[in-house]
Amino acid sequence: MIIGIHDLDVATAHYVLDLDEMAQALGVDPAKYEKGLGQDEFSVPAPDEDIVTMAAEAASRVLSRNDRTRIRSVLFATETGIDQSKAAGVFVHGLLGLPHTVRTVEFKQACYSGTAALQAAVNQVARYPEDQVLVITADVARYAVGTGGEPTQGAGAVAMLVAADPNLVVIEPGSGVYTSDVNDFWRPNDSSTPFVEGKLSLDAYMDANVGAWDDLVAQRGLSITDIDRFMHHQPFTKMARKAHSRLAEHVGLPLGDDLIEQSMVYNRRIGNSYTASLYFGLVAQLHAGDALEGRRLGLFSYGSGSVAEFFTAVVQEGYSDYLHPENVTQSLDRRVPLTFEEYRDLHANYIGESDNVETPIVTAAPFRFTGITDRVRQYEARS
Ligand code: COA
Repeated sequence: MIIGIHDLDVATAHYVLDLDEMAQALGVDPAKYEKGLGQDEFSVPAPDEDIVTMAAEAASRVLSRNDRTRIRSVLFATETGIDQSKAAGVFVHGLLGLPHTVRTVEFKQACYSGTAALQAAVNQVARYPEDQVLVITADVARYAVGTGGEPTQGAGAVAMLVAADPNLVVIEPGSGVYTSDVNDFWRPNDSSTPFVEGKLSLDAYMDANVGAWDDLVAQRGLSITDIDRFMHHQPFTKMARKAHSRLAEHVGLPLGDDLIEQSMVYNRRIGNSYTASLYFGLVAQLHAGDALEGRRLGLFSYGSGSVAEFFTAVVQEGYSDYLHPENVTQSLDRRVPLTFEEYRDLHANYIGESDNVETPIVTAAPFRFTGITDRVRQYEARS
């Protein structure tokens, strides 16, 4: 039996900030962002958007094309959970009107947890081949203003339907995994922005990349030349380039940038979306119009702290018939540009408390975060 990603789709936020606008306001050379970090712009949520509204939009696009009664689990991966107890996926389950006969849970480990959710989904289908599992990765990457991370913010969601005999990619058995207890990025319960040791995080990421690769080789006996395209986690796209050259150095073979180039197209515009970032890379690679049938993709997932996984996926025959690049284009192009001052106002007015609030109607998306009543988050689905 083959198991993998049967369908997928995306969503992002209402606003966009052009990094040239940020560079000008902060007196930074725009080339630092464009070339040094490899980023052009980033998505910024409106006050009536969050991980639930983006996740529900991405998932509703997937469900509109599939039989929702076959879904037995909703696995929601995020770094930016909205409640310490209730899984964000339960709100999504309600908004989408999924059957009660579904297991719903949240996964956490910085940017890595989407991959744990994906593997759990594959394992569930291996045991119960009729089941389908909805895996959702959604995050709002929000760093403190004035920090090195500020230009690497972003927001987005990728929803994936995992099933037997998938239309898009087969997730192959056997991953390389790597855990190392390192304090490169963390977010205490009383902080809405992370604490980051920037340079340490680059090293921790690259150590995990080669560590997970070595484990993949030990598990599977794969060679680097067995991989046709690489997707490395992209907190900013230059990070993927750094990892790729370090991996090339490690295996002692040249690995051209052409093997990663197409995976960075969407992330350059969305910014960091933590758990969703690797999967925006996968979507971009699949949308690139390359004939990838039968090709093996190598995906590297990293979450600070740190946990990493290198795994492989084989692209299915006819996969391009099941892609919807127009949804990404629509999500990106409908974003409303912000001035730097407007962006900073939104950043400052982030709703991080659970006091009663009614949010203004801003987003044009199909789901809204309408506010908080008696400490309960409220959402609405527009028809
Ligand atoms: N033109 C072109 N490139 C420029 C430039 C210019 N005018 N000015 C700087 N650069 C380059 C630098 O050389 C550097 O590239 P390099 O790393 O390949 O040498 C890059 O731009 C970034 O510059 P740097 O001074 O290192 O940036 P920073 O200290 O402000 O912040 C991070 C960089 C990554 C530490 C910061 O964005 C961060 O903390 N991000 C969040 C954590 C993160 O995402 N970690 C990744 C692993 S999870």
